[in-house]
Amino acid sequence: MKIFICENADEIARLCAQKVINLIKRKEDAILGLATGSSPQKTYQQIIELSKQNNISFKNIKTFNLDEYVDYKKEKDSYEFFMKENLFLELDINLKNTNFPNKQNINNYDDLIKEAGGIDLQILGIGTNGHIAFNEPGTSFGSNTHIVNLTEQTIKDNSRFFTTIDDVPKQAYTMGLSSIYKAKEIILIATGKNKKKAIETLIKENKDISCPASILKDHPNVTLFLDYDCAPI
Ligand code: F6R
Repeated sequence: MKIFICENADEIARLCAQKVINLIKRKEDAILGLATGSSPQKTYQQIIELSKQNNISFKNIKTFNLDEYVDYKKEKDSYEFFMKENLFLELDINLKNTNFPNKQNINNYDDLIKEAGGIDLQILGIGTNGHIAFNEPGTSFGSNTHIVNLTEQTIKDNSRFFTTIDDVPKQAYTMGLSSIYKAKEIILIATGKNKKKAIETLIKENKDISCPASILKDHPNVTLFLDYDCAPI
């Protein structure tokens, strides 16, 4: 794993967005793996700015999101809505080329990714408990896309995006750890003191299912983008 310790979230966003733009300049039909949540939000803003400045088209880009809630109450609570608001609607991407795991495709989401050619660049955040996508501690490293019961910790962490904690869905569709591991390149973004313990475990401890992100330790092309607050220095 390569580790970049950056001054702040803005610097991380600039570096990560540039990586995405460079990939698209090389490969106009690249396959992107995308995350939701706070960690990639600034990167998505930068991607929008850089693509406008450099006239970069997303019309041949395909995306596969990591996860989606099951039975969300309002459309605005869905990850699909988040992606439209934070990225897709600002680009010339064809929404038909954007994919989310759901009830219909859960058993062939991994095949859809494979058929598309595999993920060229996967963007990840990390949960305070070390989860990636919604693979909670204890998930098998061999897991494919599946449905999960969210832990109390994750429900609590994600309640900030909802009116009340009771509105947070209790289940999600998620790519598995094996699905994520197949990406050709992975960047993981983490900022803030509340991620420090998860990052410390990821970097310093051995690969173990108690820290799902530790599957990344032996991936050939992973870069962690950390700010000073969560870097174990
Ligand atoms: C979201 C996802 C999750 C988040 C993680 C961190 O698609 O896959 O694993 O990346 O929960 O969330 P934030 O970035 O909101 O702290």
